[in-house]
Amino acid sequence: MYVAQPIEWTDRGVVMLDQRRLPAEEISYTYTDYREVAKAIREMVIRGAPAIGVAAAMGAALGVLHSPAKSVEALRTEFQEICGTLAKTRPTAVDLFWALERMKRRFSELTAQTSELAKIKQGMIEEAQQVHLEKRATDEAIGRFGAEFMPREGQVMTQCNAGALATGGIGTDLGVIRVAFEQGRKLHVLVPETRPYLQGARLTAWELHKGGIPLTLITDNMVGHFLKSGKVGAIVTGADRIAANGDTANKIGTYQIAVLAKENNVPFYIAAPVSTFDLSIPDGDHIPIEERSAAEVTHLQGVRIAPDVHAAHPAFDVTPARYIAAIFTERGVARAPYTQSLIALAATGQPASAAP
Ligand code: MRU
Repeated sequence: MYVAQPIEWTDRGVVMLDQRRLPAEEISYTYTDYREVAKAIREMVIRGAPAIGVAAAMGAALGVLHSPAKSVEALRTEFQEICGTLAKTRPTAVDLFWALERMKRRFSELTAQTSELAKIKQGMIEEAQQVHLEKRATDEAIGRFGAEFMPREGQVMTQCNAGALATGGIGTDLGVIRVAFEQGRKLHVLVPETRPYLQGARLTAWELHKGGIPLTLITDNMVGHFLKSGKVGAIVTGADRIAANGDTANKIGTYQIAVLAKENNVPFYIAAPVSTFDLSIPDGDHIPIEERSAAEVTHLQGVRIAPDVHAAHPAFDVTPARYIAAIFTERGVARAPYTQSLIALAATGQPASAAP
């Protein structure tokens, strides 16, 4: 089945598919400067929490690779600058910071082992590639755990895009749907368009269509209508940051879907890697919410659709843990009370449970 490739490390540089142009055009760029990678993350050439993490790891490796530093000390100073630049791109998705921390750890290990710059550079490239490889394995595992919770047949709903484009693997929520579909479950996916950036309409619909998975595209204000129909068996979305109590930030609009799900007795699930946990914050009130340009609300694909008035654009919202039936991770399935199950998954690496 078709799996999109949003990012790749190559000998020429970091190649990224420009997700802003999808589905109209499939155009890729090759980046050789970490500052360009930072700009690409900020401007959404690449997006989706795990894919942002992969891009940050590759950006850090690229920065080290092309550094003119002649000593380990000079390289260390420049590496701090590189990580600082990449960290300032998008504030909500914690995978970005997770990936940078991992690259910093590897840098410390390598510089403790050797003062040969070529070896340090090679080690950083390998680490970035390893982050990417692990995302692929992670998605497959999330898919296997989550698929068990999907209905044998019928409708499931998503939000935004948490597919291959958003992770560099098979996707988190779309990974669950993909594995369930390959197991023979007869799923039909309801895809909310996800205004204002239209990740549902442009990206999720594109991925599902290419993968041969049946879908119906709906506008965001149709969600309640479809959930009330009694035909939706489950909702599964990705996540950008999961607080210690299970409160989850995801694309704007997710919260209202979760509330409507509860009202209509439809289970609402999150599919996300453990790298999306932020156990340093107690609850969702501590999650920074990115404010994006209001022009993305007043304009659609560059065309003005509203008068020149004040418009708001919080890019994410927080769904309280009480609306979340389970969280599918690569290490197993977390259930309430999340204050305990998330710590167990993060600390032991053991599956919390593997069956519905
Ligand atoms: O603004 P985006 O497109 O980066 O937002 C993406 C989402 O909200 C995804 O649902 C989330 O990052 C999970 S991706 C596996």
